[in-house]
Amino acid sequence: MRVLVTENFSQTCEIAAGMIAEVIRNKPDARLGLATGSTAQGVYPYLIQANKAGEVDFSRVDTVNLDEYVGLAPEHPQSYRRFMNENLFDHINIKKENTVVAEGVGDIEANVREFRFALARKPIDVQLLGIGVDGHVGFNEPGRVLYDAAHVELLDESTIDANARFFVTRDEVPTQAISMGMGDILRAKKLLLLATGENKTEAMKGLLLNEQIDSQNPATLVKTHPDVTVIIDKRLAKSIGYAY
Ligand code: GLP
Repeated sequence: MRVLVTENFSQTCEIAAGMIAEVIRNKPDARLGLATGSTAQGVYPYLIQANKAGEVDFSRVDTVNLDEYVGLAPEHPQSYRRFMNENLFDHINIKKENTVVAEGVGDIEANVREFRFALARKPIDVQLLGIGVDGHVGFNEPGRVLYDAAHVELLDESTIDANARFFVTRDEVPTQAISMGMGDILRAKKLLLLATGENKTEAMKGLLLNEQIDSQNPATLVKTHPDVTVIIDKRLAKSIGYAY
């Protein structure tokens, strides 16, 4: 596991975007695994800038997103499809038909099957990851067992609390999501996990301060991956007690 400690969050995002752009430059038809949330949101402006500057071309790229809330239609302001369109896809030269975000409404079982099918079509070249306050990646919540493949996940109370900031009231936060499984994530050729903010300290301690893999902290599974880069800012590093 490679760990980079940056000056601040914008540097974290700039480095991550640079690494994604490099994957695309080396493989113009790369498949990107993308994420939502405030952390990933910091990365996309750098990719948009690089695309507008002619430094990276998305015309042959395809993408697949980690997750989507169950119960939110694609046009819902807090759906992850809408997030992706507004924060990235609408601003780069990607073909929308080459972007996959699981469908959160309708026949959920069928949507999970379709999502699994989309994931099986092509391996992910680089997967961008944030981390939940409870250590979730995608929406793989802590538990006695974790899932290999795409599935419906019941969201933890702490996740609902954390994501309530995007909704008018906490009651509006969906309680379930369709998520890639841990296996789907670990099958990506390269993982980029970014974290910022002191509320991620406990989860990140499990990732950086010991050698254990713990299903109660799903992010710790990335330790098994042969090509993972973790990027944190020095403020979070200090709060974790990570020496660099
Ligand atoms: C959500 C997403 C995760 C993301 C996490 C952290 O629950 N499903 O993929 O990593 O939130 O989000 P943030 O970066 O906003 O803290």
